[in-house]
Amino acid sequence: MALPCSLTRYLLLMAQEHLEFRLPEIKSLLSLFGGQFTSSQEAYGKSPFWILSIPSEDIARNLMKRTVCAKSIFELWGQGKSPEELYRSLKNYPVEKMVPYLHSDSTYKIKIHTFNKTLTQEEKVKRIDALEFLPFEGKVNLKKPQHVFSILEDYGLDPNCIPEHPHNIYFGRWIADGQRELIESYSVKKRHFIGNTSMDAGLSFIMANHGKVKENDIVFDPFVGTGGLLIASAHFGAYVYGTDIDYNTVHGLGKASRKNQRWRGPDENIRANLRQYGLEKYYLDVLVSDASKPSWRKGTYFDAIITDPPYGVRESTRRTGSQKEIPKGIEKCPESHVPVSLSYHLSDMFFDLLNFAAETLVLGGRLVYWLPVYTPEYTEEMIPWHPCLQLISNCEQKLSSHTSRRLITMEKMKKFENRDQYSHLLSDQILLYQGHNSFREKYFSGVTKRFAKEEKSSQE
Ligand SMILES: C[S@@+](CC[C@H](N)C(=O)[O-])C[C@H]1O[C@@H](n2cnc3c(N)ncnc32)[C@H](O)[C@@H]1O
Repeated sequence: MALPCSLTRYLLLMAQEHLEFRLPEIKSLLSLFGGQFTSSQEAYGKSPFWILSIPSEDIARNLMKRTVCAKSIFELWGQGKSPEELYRSLKNYPVEKMVPYLHSDSTYKIKIHTFNKTLTQEEKVKRIDALEFLPFEGKVNLKKPQHVFSILEDYGLDPNCIPEHPHNIYFGRWIADGQRELIESYSVKKRHFIGNTSMDAGLSFIMANHGKVKENDIVFDPFVGTGGLLIASAHFGAYVYGTDIDYNTVHGLGKASRKNQRWRGPDENIRANLRQYGLEKYYLDVLVSDASKPSWRKGTYFDAIITDPPYGVRESTRRTGSQKEIPKGIEKCPESHVPVSLSYHLSDMFFDLLNFAAETLVLGGRLVYWLPVYTPEYTEEMIPWHPCLQLISNCEQKLSSHTSRRLITMEKMKKFENRDQYSHLLSDQILLYQGHNSFREKYFSGVTKRFAKEEKSSQE
């Protein structure tokens, strides 16, 4: 298909992990950097090879400075379903676009990347030799080449049925690698302060990318826990702020989550976590506060709200209450000023979260959060909605055979008006939402008794 002359074709090599999260990540990042994902782009479902048309190499480089779902990007010079088709396509690639990288003063290297098959050294050399018709005039330098080119061969997705010949072959100039190494360098295993529900590093970066977090943004996590999500946003240059109902978590006190350690040590807190990664300057603060009773003045504050509310499985869903809120028949505590803890239904928690986001996000700001679902009952209509927020993406991560959590991304499209806070009550959705309330029972209904017992006792 002919491309508008301002667009260049790039080949994106995707990681084969968190497959559903990949497309929303790439779309969000492209829109953040001035590119656009159009329906003519070729994101091949589960395949690791995607072809994107991007207006500039700068945008491609910016994309790779952020993505954890893509491994590398190449300027695509040719592709084919057979070597002959690839060579024909390479011969059609404009020479003037190749020459800057092939001239006699340059050094280069050609690499081979295969998916779902391993080639022998001899086979690799054969493939490189077959490209001698390309006008390479520079010198080969295997250690520190100025330009790296790659032949990429796709043998499909089925490891039990590997074809003799690849389904597709690509040739391109390597431009940049993505940020996969962040998954290791920010791993919770090596993190100073962790809890039972600390968010995995890779998913935290994916969430920040879905949230289009950028430098100098203000990002808020109302269920901050050990601050795993703040770390990812701060890494991308945002100032971060959080609240949690749990005093011990916010102050880094109480029982340690690590094996072989009884109590949390001094300086085990969110600020110290940010310091560990050289991100302390992005720390605004964390406070003890109940998300069901936000203590903010009216106004817009946040560029993104990125959060992982409790599901009631590893941590309880609680909110503060007053004596008045205790249902009749339950004995009241004499000191009426002491807040009591009430159970916080998941459905109420999501209503509150959406209302809060609709009110406090800047226009265009994003809310990214996890919604636990019982898969046999799940329908798309169950996704909480709000008149000010547009659903951008909804990706599933399986938790067990019958439960999963869905990463929901919404964008604020409309200014919040007072009447918007009750809109959800006017629709039938209220009934659907209430299905979330029994998530805990449903979660435990299907797991083995032993596992259920372990989970319960860890919460007592
Ligand atoms: C799933 S954890 C968040 C984990 C966090 N993302 C991390 O990386 O450590 C949910 C957190 O919500 C807190 N929480 C529960 N109910 C709350 C409420 N009503 N208001 C604020 N925080 C609450 C819990 O104390 C818990 O730390």
